[in-house]
Amino acid sequence: SIGKSADETGCHVFVVGGFVRDLLLYRKNEDIDIVVEGDGIHFAKNFAGSRDARIHAYSKFGTAVITLEDGFKVDVATARTEYYASPAALPEVEKSSLKADLYRRDFTINTLAIQLNEKYYGTLIDHFSGQKDIKDKTLRIIHNLSFVEDPTRIFRAVRFESRFGFTIGKLTVRLIENAIRMGVFKRLSGARAMGEIVSILEENDPVPSIRRLGEFRLLAALHPSMALTEKTTALLMEARKALDGYELLAEDLRCHRWLVYFMVLLSPCNTADAKKICRILRLAGWQEELCVKERERAELCIKRLARELPLDNSILYSRLHVFKTEVLVYMMAAAERKQVKKAIAHYLSKLRFVTPLIQGRDLKEMGIPPGPAYRKILLQVQDARLNGMLHSKEEEMAFVA
Ligand code: CTP
Repeated sequence: SIGKSADETGCHVFVVGGFVRDLLLYRKNEDIDIVVEGDGIHFAKNFAGSRDARIHAYSKFGTAVITLEDGFKVDVATARTEYYASPAALPEVEKSSLKADLYRRDFTINTLAIQLNEKYYGTLIDHFSGQKDIKDKTLRIIHNLSFVEDPTRIFRAVRFESRFGFTIGKLTVRLIENAIRMGVFKRLSGARAMGEIVSILEENDPVPSIRRLGEFRLLAALHPSMALTEKTTALLMEARKALDGYELLAEDLRCHRWLVYFMVLLSPCNTADAKKICRILRLAGWQEELCVKERERAELCIKRLARELPLDNSILYSRLHVFKTEVLVYMMAAAERKQVKKAIAHYLSKLRFVTPLIQGRDLKEMGIPPGPAYRKILLQVQDARLNGMLHSKEEEMAFVA
């Protein structure tokens, strides 16, 4: 039916970019990007109407987002033509506008398109040898100024390289090195750089990408004290193990993976530098707090636990319950002693869920006058439960009595 809408509105319609790339790589991708030669919004409205789907159109940009019945989202964009197109040349420009649109993109593997008009349905369009590069597992930019135009593409190259198991082509590597040497990062806003760093850190295994950033001295380009060291790399791998372990334990409890890794990246920095980097990269206040102050508190806590363990559960709880999940996972990675790692894992998987079964209501029924004493009593009950002394509500009531 999408092809029918294309034909009815007199447009050439293509699915492009990541979706086609992932199709050829047999990878799942649920983001559908459509490029339209012609009136993209007219097409989008027609298609949405035929499917009874919701549509948000942005006429200023010639784009629209269609949400299908099953929640599936389709992005529609009008092919961007060159500015110098004269009205007289319109038919010519229209014909090549898909190519012009694809030419603006980052890597050849992202420039593949599949036509959706009924007569041409399924035709693969490959203007920049994307298929060959997919076959050769190579990442190549389309034109030499690509990284200068958009330095975030350097991060994307590194991310895709590791995600797909590809290699950045020789010329492309040289262009990355040149761009970094030219100082393109001075023109890149901190927020955009951070967006790319987060994308990398949210990948399944960000460690190879971070290594690669290190090889390009890209982290050092952001701030000298972020220069990647062997120690940081080892710690990143520990963080990966800790995160995987944690996610097995508590799959229902969200943890921002990127934050754990980012804490590791900041671990060689002193407080002043760490703060400065957070400011440059525009982290939110709570994120900075976690990465700087909380991380330092965590380091102290690790040292303390190493001295104190073994501990009663109730004391372990009191040491650890002040920390957010991300910090605890970081601690699990950063602790050198196995015993400390284990204690934190024990807290994360079990202890933090322990609460008394009795409530204020029960205390009232027992004839204890309501007041600040309740909190104290309940905390004592919790400690006793943590230490394995209480196993039922009855036992808790008897304990209080
Ligand atoms: N693109 C680009 N330069 C960028 C970002 C994106 O040229 N700095 C282009 C790419 O060609 C890409 C398209 O815009 O195909 C959409 O980008 P994105 O939404 O990031 O999709 P993906 O390439 O699929 O990446 P991801 O899987 O991480 O979403």
